[in-house]
Amino acid sequence: MNVPIVENAAGNAAGNTAGHAAGNAAGSTAGHAARNGAAARNPAAGARTVLELAGVHKSFGETEIIRGVDLALIEGERHAIIGPNGAGKSTLFHLISGQLQPTRGTITLDGRQIQGLEPRVINRMGLARSFQITNIFPGHSVFENLRFGILRRYGLQYNFWRRVARVRRITEETEQLLEELRLLKSRDVLAGELSYSEQRSLEIGMALASDPRVVLLDEPMAGMSREETDYTVGLIRQLTARRTLMIVEHDMDVVFSLSDRVSVLVYGQIIATGTPDEIRANRQVQEAYLGTEVSV
Ligand SMILES: Nc1ncnc2c1ncn2[C@@H]1O[C@H](COP(=O)(O)OP(=O)(O)O)[C@@H](O)[C@H]1O
Ligand SMILES: [Mg+2]
Repeated sequence: MNVPIVENAAGNAAGNTAGHAAGNAAGSTAGHAARNGAAARNPAAGARTVLELAGVHKSFGETEIIRGVDLALIEGERHAIIGPNGAGKSTLFHLISGQLQPTRGTITLDGRQIQGLEPRVINRMGLARSFQITNIFPGHSVFENLRFGILRRYGLQYNFWRRVARVRRITEETEQLLEELRLLKSRDVLAGELSYSEQRSLEIGMALASDPRVVLLDEPMAGMSREETDYTVGLIRQLTARRTLMIVEHDMDVVFSLSDRVSVLVYGQIIATGTPDEIRANRQVQEAYLGTEVSV
């Protein structure tokens, strides 16, 4: 492993890189487990908590928007956050990814508190969020966009470019990501000229370019047709196969088919967390949310 890491704020970038260089997310997971040992395990459930929110509050001025959220994401699960408009779902994502700081409470990623850290640092620690931390450059090709995302992971430093082998490695990784995103055909198309759903795919890809273990997607299917939604759900399923996913989605068919667990956020508080069946059957959820806005 001779890829230089210029930034190692989280102290774990080397592990990340090793995982990625192995060419699959399983390598990443192995490195990840080795780094964290048993400390973060939850022996009761036999499952490891990868992201944990405890007593998280967020106020804007006088108004409390997030009112004491406790939430634990289990490694490898797909976890949907549902709730009415204005409930605070996007705010919660902003708090986790570092765009906003909680007024109080803790957010822990792999046993380290991350609340108040910069988005860039949290991203380096293995958490990526589409739409907010990613920038698509419309005047550059799909390939160039993704390559930039991958380069950002390695760190942009001059020395890096001196080694031809490294440039080749970046190109190979970019091609691999293109294939995973099913965007090979659009490799040289300017990002700004992609179809709507292809742009969304590219945005998800830009988040994945950092090889995150935890991925946050905020309404990735918004504005899509039925066909585009089905396509994108398939893509998300495939791309998050070995990652932990937290997704905000309004389409209940998508939520219940994609998620292992669902949490319901109403007026800044989580009123229920459970499997899709448990959430469907939960009377409080039906009254507060499902019964009023959607039929299930
Ligand atoms: N930066 C901000 N300043 C003030 N109020 C905000 C800010 N961001 C969000 N809000 C308010 O917080 C509430 C929750 O918003 P949001 O998290 O976007 O909800 P959701 O994503 O669930 O629809 C809304 O009432 C919104 O107006
Ligand atoms: Mg929102």
